[in-house]
Amino acid sequence: MGKDLTRRGFVRTAAGGSAALVWLSARRAPTVFAAQADKPALLGGTPMHQGGWPKWPQWDESWEPEIVEVLRSGRWSSAGGGGQVVDFETAYAKLLGANRCVTTASGTTALITSMHVMGVDAGDEVITSPYTFIATYNTILMLKALPVFADTDPATLTMDPASIESRITERTRAIVPVHIYGMPCDMDPINAIAKKHNLAVVEDACQAWLAEYKGRKCGTLGELGCFSFQNSKHIPAGEGGAVTGDSDELLDRCHAFHNCGRAFGTFKGSGCFSRGTNCRMMHYAAALLRQEIDKLVTDTKRRQENADHLTAGLQEIPGIQPVRLPENSRAVWHLYAFRYDADQFHGLPRDKFIRALRAEGVPCSGGYGEQYYDGLLDEAINSRGFQRLFPAERLKAYRGSLQELKGNKQVCETTVAVFHSTLLADRSDMDHIVEAIRKIHAHGAALAT
Ligand SMILES: Cc1ncc(COP(=O)(O)O)c(C=O)c1O
Repeated sequence: MGKDLTRRGFVRTAAGGSAALVWLSARRAPTVFAAQADKPALLGGTPMHQGGWPKWPQWDESWEPEIVEVLRSGRWSSAGGGGQVVDFETAYAKLLGANRCVTTASGTTALITSMHVMGVDAGDEVITSPYTFIATYNTILMLKALPVFADTDPATLTMDPASIESRITERTRAIVPVHIYGMPCDMDPINAIAKKHNLAVVEDACQAWLAEYKGRKCGTLGELGCFSFQNSKHIPAGEGGAVTGDSDELLDRCHAFHNCGRAFGTFKGSGCFSRGTNCRMMHYAAALLRQEIDKLVTDTKRRQENADHLTAGLQEIPGIQPVRLPENSRAVWHLYAFRYDADQFHGLPRDKFIRALRAEGVPCSGGYGEQYYDGLLDEAINSRGFQRLFPAERLKAYRGSLQELKGNKQVCETTVAVFHSTLLADRSDMDHIVEAIRKIHAHGAALAT
């Protein structure tokens, strides 16, 4: 750099006149980086990343013999007990450090099973997170209970424990924290509130296989934990789920419920049967899942290392705020999410930022929206069943209280998320993501117009 070329001058020179590359420090005028002179792909430049990303799910031919053996045996259903399903349940419980595991047909049915066993019933209320896959809402509604939403902490994207207590009523039966995107909720205060008010805690860990909080795995932090093994998940079987926990009594009840209500272990029900459903896993799904465990462990480590690298790069970019995790916890990144501040990108709207990032070859999305306004809750609270179960004033107040979810609204409007298989790529590919965002940052003004 020439003697008389100051840093400011260098950046201006490198920018080739781009207004976005002027070195200013005011809030609406972002800091810039030298390596961003390329034109954004959305404006006709070359994409920062080319050559695609790892596909998901991934198949390993070495898994085939065991699965074919199950298929040839004709013993596909787990109704008779034993076999591959029990082998997987034993292995999954051990992996998590849980005493027991009962597999189910899906994460949805794992949640229904767990909440039923914890006594959630018609006319109850369940406090949960609004920032989740819609199945969390649906499972509570299926039990004819009302999902009451704690607010989302914009820094963590998970349930803000400070917003729980004011939402507890005499109808509240359980808290369902959701470890969304594989990021552990702050479970200590949640468990303390549950204990104080005598509420059950069922973890929705459907996106959090092997995530850790204070040395323990998600899914072992409440009374029962629920997992999904659906096609997109880190340990996929097309469909599948599991309930984990330490209490033999609760897990026996889960087993009974998921197996048509047949008495199981210590749980005799009322004679032979109690209320239940059929949401058993099939043996060939279990044969696949058990063999995927080693891959889950190695993939998780890789996702975590790449996510750490990504976070280190992204936190240097003004307007990009990586997610804050609870102290002494480890996320597994079902989606890698960060918050986006359009002000730091010359007002470039979040949706256009997403389009620009996709154009750079980085697949991403805006995550969940304000789903409580999408019609599902209105349909439920206007239904005959809910109108019989809840006083009209309660349903009116409930509908009105959705406006109080200010943190969640902010999260829905400002989050950007990258799919987990992207984190299985090479370290240098993570640099492409960082550089792509730096490029968009540098050209925010041009992109915003
Ligand atoms: C947070 C969360 N809860 C519940 C579920 C339901 O799981 P499933 O699709 O296996 O029924 C999912 C699945 O996507 C999920 O992500």
